[in-house]
Amino acid sequence: MSENTDIEATETYRRQFELSELTDYANPQPRYREMVPEQVVLPMEGFAMPASREAVNTVLRHHEVFTSDFGFDLGNIRPMIPLSVDPPRHSRYRKLLDPLFAPRQMDKVEGDIAERANHFIDTFIDRGECNFTDEYAELFPSAIFLGLMGLPWAELDTFLRLRDGILRPQTVDPDALLDPEARMRVTRATGAELYEYFGDILDQRRAHPTDDILTHFITAEVDGEKLSTEEILDICFLFLIAGLDTVSDSLTCMYAFLATHPDHRRQIVENPAIITTAVEEMLRWETPVTGVIRMAKEDFEVCGVTIAAGTMVSPSLGAANVDPAQFDNPFEVRFDREDNAHIAFGGGVHRCLGSHLARRELRVTLREWHRRIPDYALKPGHEDLVYPPGLRSVKDLTLVWPG
Ligand code: HEM
Repeated sequence: MSENTDIEATETYRRQFELSELTDYANPQPRYREMVPEQVVLPMEGFAMPASREAVNTVLRHHEVFTSDFGFDLGNIRPMIPLSVDPPRHSRYRKLLDPLFAPRQMDKVEGDIAERANHFIDTFIDRGECNFTDEYAELFPSAIFLGLMGLPWAELDTFLRLRDGILRPQTVDPDALLDPEARMRVTRATGAELYEYFGDILDQRRAHPTDDILTHFITAEVDGEKLSTEEILDICFLFLIAGLDTVSDSLTCMYAFLATHPDHRRQIVENPAIITTAVEEMLRWETPVTGVIRMAKEDFEVCGVTIAAGTMVSPSLGAANVDPAQFDNPFEVRFDREDNAHIAFGGGVHRCLGSHLARRELRVTLREWHRRIPDYALKPGHEDLVYPPGLRSVKDLTLVWPG
């Protein structure tokens, strides 16, 4: 293949994957096993999926070639900060934001995270069952953001509505499921509402500063410069996209795993100290954000495959997380795994800003839940788990426990 826009495959590329094969969301690990040796999977023209750890690392580390600034449109009127911004501007934002999400800051909010976890558990524990997806996983991360942003519980519905308008526009207008224009109408309207909503709160924080992250966004400085209001709004927009569903979906994947693997669940109940490594292992195994997206700005060789300029490139974090070159027995789920250098939070300059917050939410949930509900299973009649398209998640995960 000689055209500039084509992908040139060398002998390392052995098997053509059909796109349909790449969308089995329920059971992706066997597919990952086949993808890894291909290094870079090429499901269709103009699209490449680096799959081995080395190929994924190569793409994520060459941000000067594989850009994140390609006009990702979710109703935002400006690029989302810092996800859709490349270095050097990107580094300025991370310098300012990283300290606000450092482990030390998370220590300060751990008590609040535990309280909010128990608030939701209280609502269903006596019933002996719950729709874990709807009654815990979907609500908990938004409730955590309320705390971080100094907003009252009463704002939870607004938060959820803004999230749904952007990420699930069909819940606002059913036509949005199949009609891209209807979808755009909803996301644009929600985006505008979101800018206005946070704009008003920022005005309040300027008048009455507190100790929440919004006040910190207003006052923090890097190299003597503060963030503009527009920049803060572009960060808030991204938080709703990056910081809510990712945690919800991880929770549903983890609880589906634990409900169907009683031996693993028992390890957590008998030895809560194992929760830290158990969370890392389930992040590796489930990899809820299965891949990220970049665009190649120029031709570039990745593990023997030339990826041409203009190609959309989606490094498969899920496949890289079961690469035997990186992990011993990658297809075994071991809660005591040492050296678990997974990339469920991505890699390179855009590695997840909220990884410490996410970890804290996941660990606290597992700790509080298993303390109060040690013994649970899938509700009979609800054993067929549905993993919808998108991030890896379980719809209507229904759990029961002895009353
Ligand atoms: C288990 C939960 C989470 C997972 C699996 C996850 C995963 C990821 C991944 C894979 C990326 C890299 C995206 C890319 O390279 O294009 C990312 C970026 C990001 N995440 Fe998370 N995330 C989680 C939770 C959170 C939370 C709670 C926040 C809240 C602050 C957050 C904020 C962000 C931001 C702001 C970025 C963009 C970073 C940048 O571009 O520099 N994430 N996340």
